[in-house]
Amino acid sequence: MVYEIYPRSFADGDGDGVGDLAGVRSRLPYLRDLGIDAVWFTPWYASPMADGGYDVEDYRRIHPAFGDLAQAEAFIAEALALGIRTIVDIVPNHVSSRHPWFRRALAAGPGSPERERFWFRGGATPPTNWVSNFQGGTWTRTADADGTPGEWYLHLFAPEQPDLNWEHPDVRREHEDVLRFWFDRGVAGVRIDSAALLVKDPALPEVPDAPLPGRHPNTDRDGVHEIYRSWRALADGYRGTRILIGEVWMPDADRFAAYLRPDELHTAFNFDFMSREWRADQLRESIATMLAAHAPVGAPSTWVLSNHDVTRPVTRYGRADTAFAFATKRFGTPTDRELGTRRARAAALLVAALPGSLYIYQGDELGLPEVEDLPSGAREDPMHFRSGGVDPGRDGCRVPLPWTGDEPPYGFSSTSATWLPQPADWGGLTAERQAADPGSMLSLYRRAIRLRRSFESAPFAWIDAPDDVLAFARGDGLVCLANVAGRPVALPRGAELLLASSELVDDALPSDSTAWVRPAPAETPHR
Ligand code: NOJ
Repeated sequence: MVYEIYPRSFADGDGDGVGDLAGVRSRLPYLRDLGIDAVWFTPWYASPMADGGYDVEDYRRIHPAFGDLAQAEAFIAEALALGIRTIVDIVPNHVSSRHPWFRRALAAGPGSPERERFWFRGGATPPTNWVSNFQGGTWTRTADADGTPGEWYLHLFAPEQPDLNWEHPDVRREHEDVLRFWFDRGVAGVRIDSAALLVKDPALPEVPDAPLPGRHPNTDRDGVHEIYRSWRALADGYRGTRILIGEVWMPDADRFAAYLRPDELHTAFNFDFMSREWRADQLRESIATMLAAHAPVGAPSTWVLSNHDVTRPVTRYGRADTAFAFATKRFGTPTDRELGTRRARAAALLVAALPGSLYIYQGDELGLPEVEDLPSGAREDPMHFRSGGVDPGRDGCRVPLPWTGDEPPYGFSSTSATWLPQPADWGGLTAERQAADPGSMLSLYRRAIRLRRSFESAPFAWIDAPDDVLAFARGDGLVCLANVAGRPVALPRGAELLLASSELVDDALPSDSTAWVRPAPAETPHR
């Protein structure tokens, strides 16, 4: 069970309104009580923060707003003493435009060896019409020393994030060195950002309408696997846990599973489930497809309801369209918060019952909604700006957490001038308030996480159920029922209720709810 920490927004130890390592350390007891096994930090490195830290200037230095290396090392050790491992984020596809390599490349000019670590090309027009993941084009034109227009450089994300050329031996060597740097400091693994994008077709063709598997010019090219094989060999060279987790957005389940072959990544995020609508057939199909895709490669599946890039589940599940897609995010999409919360609770219990690893994004355990009414001047996300303001971006799921009290900053910081403003009505959602309430989202998460340990390695099997109910067993000790039917359903006869996301009504499980039950012991035939 891995808990994702977005350090800017977790807890602020020094009162500047930005979360930091001192803040996370002060909240270690909270993480221990939650019962998770590991924390994953989104980038905590020196960065101009053009993309929330995914624009890294120095992979070996902690961002001064977060602390320093000594604090990171102290955190890793202290967390481990509580049984919590630390996973860091590695961003290999691109660097910050302020990274020394890129600055040197700009200074050295066209044709220089410094430029070969990136994708620089000449010409009067951009070399391709590829579309950036943040919208707009993927090429930005530099200016030569005399101010005349110079070469173009590639960035699959923002212009402040130039893509590295993974054909270059320096790029490979440097990243292996960065892995060693963090593994040597005791981190238990790395989350690999944009893991499928590293390798590009050097001929730079346009993206075909329907690229055949492996033929897209900048995504999921076969050459990427060799990189991860070498990283796996490096990780395996360590004693103790060193795991590789890929951020792989991939509609094709088999291409996805290829990253998880025994000599490549240990796991990768399953984004399929969280992109699906809250409908029994959709959820069942996603679970079945994912389990089937993982089986042949022998890797555990992962279950992810959200992260720092996507709309909070409480908000998403209360909308008419409960699916998630970056392309469809719009301001002013109505949501029913009560229904969304109810479904988010049900979804949390559903995924927590599935086999594999579970990822929890900070604040989902508090049932925080997406903050949709941030003042436009407060927004920072390039996704918002590069869409011309059409896409609200991702700031709404990155608002600082509420810990205590009735008004901002809710114990997050000693200043209410937090880097993103917190809503005035989060007093009921604080960790303190929820810890004292057995019916809260936090209490549900805590109990689910504790109970899950008892069936963690028990085999999964579907159970016959109506089409609009998901039912499966984990060994003999647990049956999970997720009711998406729009009407109450009966629990299995003689079963003992262990945990439910909503109160039972007349002994039946209401709609949009999940229950964990211990089945009645199988009857022993009389002789
Ligand atoms: C995926 C990260 O999760 C996201 O936050 C970031 O913007 C992109 N990769 C680019 O690094």
